[in-house]
Amino acid sequence: MTKSPIKLPPPVFNDEKHHLRLYQGDCLELLPLLPESSVDLIFADPPYFLSNNGITCHAGKMVSVNKGEWDKSRGPDANHEFNRSWLKEPILQSAIRQHLTIEANLDRLCKELQLSGHAVDLEVLGEKALPEGHVDILLKQRTPIGSAMKIPIEVKTNEAKEKDLEQVLGYMKELRGECPAAILLAAAFSKRVVSLANDSGIQLVRYILDADLSKTPTFEEICQGLTLERVSS
Ligand SMILES: C[S@@+](CC[C@H](N)C(=O)[O-])C[C@H]1O[C@@H](n2cnc3c(N)ncnc32)[C@H](O)[C@@H]1O
Repeated sequence: MTKSPIKLPPPVFNDEKHHLRLYQGDCLELLPLLPESSVDLIFADPPYFLSNNGITCHAGKMVSVNKGEWDKSRGPDANHEFNRSWLKEPILQSAIRQHLTIEANLDRLCKELQLSGHAVDLEVLGEKALPEGHVDILLKQRTPIGSAMKIPIEVKTNEAKEKDLEQVLGYMKELRGECPAAILLAAAFSKRVVSLANDSGIQLVRYILDADLSKTPTFEEICQGLTLERVSS
């Protein structure tokens, strides 16, 4: 039996006229269900975990700072774990971008993927808006001659899905003659994704992270612990 994909619940508020929809639930469960490339901005006001029976002075009176169960700290490790879980994807994307701005790393990847040209001729751009959606990383020829060669890179924190390949194909179609290659970068790939990628000409790259996220590494340590390797079919 095929598993049906998990769908977003009906919104608790829906104003079609102004394109406003409100969903209620655990953001860690709901956010991954939003359609790909449908988000322009995340505005977050997460808990500060300060409701542990502290007191403050309000209008000359001693009052409790407790805001509710949701704001109760269960210790610094649990607080870090919560923040890491909702920040994981943007941190990883930034680390990969940072990794590729180091010429030797980009050069190695270009050679592994047999991309023509040299890393020194490419600039590494972060999140770029294309009509098909926002591509996570765009490698772009520094000095265009006629047209600028562009290589879109889609980054997935976990296992890549078939819909991720479709997303990358959309970028390739849109960039048409300017796109000699496109890369889907993820932690893992199923056999099916590998064989579909092979047919579509999309290059697959696996990231390996040698950094213990539970020990709160610095951004520098995450970047240093990162290895990118080509996935062959
Ligand atoms: C600092 S308050 C935000 C207050 C809000 N900005 C306001 O002005 O009323 C944090 C809120 O995040 C909610 N919250 C905590 N964990 C959440 C999660 N995993 N998903 C969605 N909301 C969460 C809490 O219930 C709380 O209402």
